[in-house]
Amino acid sequence: MEINWDELRSAASAAMSKAYAPYSNFPVGVAGLVDDGRIVTGCNVENAAYGVALCAECGLISSLISTGGGKLVAVACVDRHGNALMPCGRCRQLLWEHGGPNCLLDSVSGIKSMTEILPDAFGAHDLTDRL
Ligand code: THU
Repeated sequence: MEINWDELRSAASAAMSKAYAPYSNFPVGVAGLVDDGRIVTGCNVENAAYGVALCAECGLISSLISTGGGKLVAVACVDRHGNALMPCGRCRQLLWEHGGPNCLLDSVSGIKSMTEILPDAFGAHDLTDRL
């Protein structure tokens, strides 16, 4: 499947511009290409109760599922400058669940697969293989 990284980065930047980040002043946007060709996005949404903040990737996954599901093929996450930003550890797990090992990420050190981003990941297979 052809991946238009510039389009994905632009979609992530557009989502970033909608972020609600009054506490950290650190807006984040993310965009994902789904295996049916659609693009889903998310931005971070903070809260006065700081720990309740939702990372941009949470919005991305919610959008993915609520608009029909599917598998993430490629993901771009950006900071306020539109530069690549690495997803936090928790969000790497979210991406793993819905992208799997071959999903690609526009990382700070080039395009990488999720196996490189989250090596030896825990996943659904562990729940069945270890009974
Ligand atoms: N943030 C994300 O949205 N995604 C990440 O993967 C890293 C961190 C947000 C959470 C918080 O609103 C702000 O960045 C500063 O940590």
